[in-house]
Amino acid sequence: ESDPLVVFTPSGKRGRFPVGTPILTAARQLGVDLDSVCGGRGICSKCQITPSYGEFPKHGVTVADNALSEWNSVEARYDEKRGLISGRRLGCQAQVMGDVVIDVPPESQVHKQVVRKRAEARDIVMNPSVRMYYVEVEQPDMHEPSGDLERLAKALEEQWDIAGATADLGVLHGLQPTLRKGEWKVTVAVQQHSEGQTPKVIQVWPGFYEGKIFGLAVDLGSTTIAAHLCDLTDGEVVASSGIMNPQIRFGEDLMSRVSYSMMNSGGAAEMTTAVRKGMNALFDQISQEAEIDKTLIMDAVFVCNPVMHHLFLGIDPFELGQAPFALGTSSSLNLRARDLDLDIHPNADIYILPCIAGHVGADAAAVALSEAPDKSKDLVLVVDVGTNAEILLGNAEKVLACSSPTGPAFEGAQISSGQRAAPGAIERVEIDPATKDVRFKVIGCDLWSDEEGFTEATEATGITGICGSGIIEMVAEMRLNGILDGPGLIGSPEQTGTSRCFLDGRTYSYMVWDGSADGGPVITVTNRDIREIQMAKAALYSGARLLMDKFGVDEVDRVVLAGAFGAHISPKHAMVLGMIPDAPLDKVTSAGNAAGTGARIALLNTHARREIEQTVHQIHKIETAIEPRFQEHFVNASNIPNAVEPFPILKS
Ligand code: FES
Repeated sequence: ESDPLVVFTPSGKRGRFPVGTPILTAARQLGVDLDSVCGGRGICSKCQITPSYGEFPKHGVTVADNALSEWNSVEARYDEKRGLISGRRLGCQAQVMGDVVIDVPPESQVHKQVVRKRAEARDIVMNPSVRMYYVEVEQPDMHEPSGDLERLAKALEEQWDIAGATADLGVLHGLQPTLRKGEWKVTVAVQQHSEGQTPKVIQVWPGFYEGKIFGLAVDLGSTTIAAHLCDLTDGEVVASSGIMNPQIRFGEDLMSRVSYSMMNSGGAAEMTTAVRKGMNALFDQISQEAEIDKTLIMDAVFVCNPVMHHLFLGIDPFELGQAPFALGTSSSLNLRARDLDLDIHPNADIYILPCIAGHVGADAAAVALSEAPDKSKDLVLVVDVGTNAEILLGNAEKVLACSSPTGPAFEGAQISSGQRAAPGAIERVEIDPATKDVRFKVIGCDLWSDEEGFTEATEATGITGICGSGIIEMVAEMRLNGILDGPGLIGSPEQTGTSRCFLDGRTYSYMVWDGSADGGPVITVTNRDIREIQMAKAALYSGARLLMDKFGVDEVDRVVLAGAFGAHISPKHAMVLGMIPDAPLDKVTSAGNAAGTGARIALLNTHARREIEQTVHQIHKIETAIEPRFQEHFVNASNIPNAVEPFPILKS
């Protein structure tokens, strides 16, 4: 009679195995994704499975009560110490006795999915570059001399199919005492970021290491540096943190930093030192928050724009300041933490995503990885709004990309009452169509300014200025309520019917908040502010419009607003302003920090790194600076919403 049938769910993989075969062995032979760090020795508990009993017509099997071997002492001991969820078994201990259906729960899968909360987002499948393995190493023998490292490598090959592992000198320094301390049983962290790359042992622990290892996904922006600390075994984000980019003192925007390096000898090196120092401060902060040792951070992925990319790597960004904007390198990079003076595990792998072009960096590549326009059926426009806007337009057929110099107005800079998004900043605005009076909300307070208790609630922060999302709503509301005309002039009190408009030099300004009686600020919107916003939004719109021309379309199916700032913009106001092309409002969504998410995907899944390297080659770059149509679009887009484009959906 034939061997028992083993059916695995959810994969549906099945095969016949002799009585007495451990479930883990059956899983491995069938290629079922069942985790194990200890190699079936009953130590790690990663191999948990749930057998099912009874009739399974779908699989054509009936599972008897004795389809698996009885609980053994290893399982009993584990259950006593840690508790095994009811119905669970250890896959390496339970043996096949009869036909059986075995469910592999998500947490027992190596390539488990990390769920992303957004509806349209694809989940991340775990496939990290650093993994832990428990091995038992042969003891040295005078008659057959071989090195400890060679015997460790042999154990990895025999027990885990990892051939040819090597180690750096730093690992060798500690290897011998560790092997002896663990009595020839050790856990190793092995790094292999691509197939064919020599596996590298980067850390050795005596015995079975029960702790965790971590990775960092870093979004290195010109204004802020943000990082997610992720658990490399389950993909969970354990801490997130951010700091201001310390390079700001060399120049607010990218071009001023490039010119700083041109004007000052050693300027680029100074900025490199500053950003790396800042990075280390951030890593201190995030590891303290998560209460972990920094040397447990064994992998890190960075995304950044081309200028930050060069400055971080220590390459002078000089060439990026002038046509033809040649990058030092556009390929992805695999480096070591110590190459970049990063104070994490010295052998940590550093992966930097590829750049798309001289103006379209690894941050845009990360957005492409996160939002996957190249996999979209409908035509999607992705705009990452920052001092420089990265814009992608495409679908499964092709993807176009450009960047557009929006300037810092959307971050509140160069606006008379502008400020960064922080407690006390006005972020939401409504103007009453009848009275033309304004009400607003500030960051850090749930109440509107005309609600009872607002004054008390904002006492601590005060009302300090208007942040980027606030200024967008403000200008859009002013336009909607006739305070501002299409070309962008604020009307007189007679024209607008409100005394909030007042003559301010040669043009009119709009009074938002007068806190002077209490020694607070006077917050107004001046006609110069409007000009700044018009320039910024026109740059953004004309970049998008140019891509649409190149694609040969007049409209897009959906718009994704990316970037930390994008998450706070109200789609309606952005459209009233004419920042983004006309589209149904419910087709405008926010992706949050998509560049950061792209970094996280690349951190957790090395296949995704290969994927984006491929995709980047297929993205067509459009250089806005040399396109005559860009100027034309820009002039038209300076009007609010636009001088020529009709915005039919918005009007209806
Ligand atoms: Fe480690 Fe089963 S594989 S406990």
